[in-house]
Amino acid sequence: MTERIEIRLDLPDGRSTIVLVGRGVRSELADSIPQTAARVAVVTQENIDVAVDPGTPFETFYIGDGEQFKNLDTVGELCSAWSKWGLNRADCVVAVGGGMVTDVAGFAAAVYHRGIPVIHVPTTLLGQVDAAIGGKTGINIPEGKNLVGAYWQPNAVFCDTETLDTLSPAEWRCGLGEVAKYNWLGGRDLAELELEGRIAACVRIKAEVVASDEREAGRRALLNYGHTLAHAIEIVGSHDLKHGEAVGIGLVYAAELARQMGRIDAELVAEHRRIVEAYELPTQLPAELEPQDLLKAMGRDKKVLNTGLTFVLLGTDGLEIVRNVDPGLATVAMEALR
Ligand code: GLY
Repeated sequence: MTERIEIRLDLPDGRSTIVLVGRGVRSELADSIPQTAARVAVVTQENIDVAVDPGTPFETFYIGDGEQFKNLDTVGELCSAWSKWGLNRADCVVAVGGGMVTDVAGFAAAVYHRGIPVIHVPTTLLGQVDAAIGGKTGINIPEGKNLVGAYWQPNAVFCDTETLDTLSPAEWRCGLGEVAKYNWLGGRDLAELELEGRIAACVRIKAEVVASDEREAGRRALLNYGHTLAHAIEIVGSHDLKHGEAVGIGLVYAAELARQMGRIDAELVAEHRRIVEAYELPTQLPAELEPQDLLKAMGRDKKVLNTGLTFVLLGTDGLEIVRNVDPGLATVAMEALR
């Protein structure tokens, strides 16, 4: 069964983003290519074996695999190759791959000719429930991850679950961290759903949040629940935790911190542990990660807008952004995860 979700945004050109979720949905790609397009640039990686048919003459452009290729050089090379091929603003880009591909191709599409239509075909769980949805694009610079980017909404997103058949267990865990997060964003029944229904439910939650706050003036930041510590874990120290695993730890940490601050009770913290463990994600901080290093990294998080340590935390009114958190309490909460 195909699920269809529309993300209604107040875009200047009046369009919205259509997200299709289901097995084999990418076969409907041709119907979403703009009628003005005479050619389609498909952007992917060599190791991604997912064929698409845009129904319009197309050429495939490969980018490198790995965070070290998520940079301005790759965007520059992509734009030069597109230009030599004759791609113009009436044409279209189709990104086929995980978060790295949709981030890089999405950003290149945002800046090429000052903006060219883009369609995403995310091939990872993380991409389908988060990265490819909502129009955030970005690349890394030596000073930090995703520090250069743009909001550029895709015309359509095809969450084809057939592309997940060959996903490695590590890649699944990457996405499961995000799925777990949605539990506290209105997705309490997610665990009861089949894969397609679960992905569609996550997309619906994110669509509603993004439609209300595309540029993250406030509410969209709630989608980063569990991510402040997760991003710090990813930056600091040597370990082999994947993004989703770091988010699992970050969710339990956010609950512990909220309890230390008197915002929630122990039962809600226990619920966080139960949900994260149900997705077979870790809930303990690796011993080699030093609290001081994690604190420093959390202080540099992109959500910190000159407002001291900033977290998304639960309270009596649900999730909210809490600024100027006491570093002492933040450290004590970390000890509860040892
Ligand atoms: N991944 C969080 C967001 O798209 O806002």
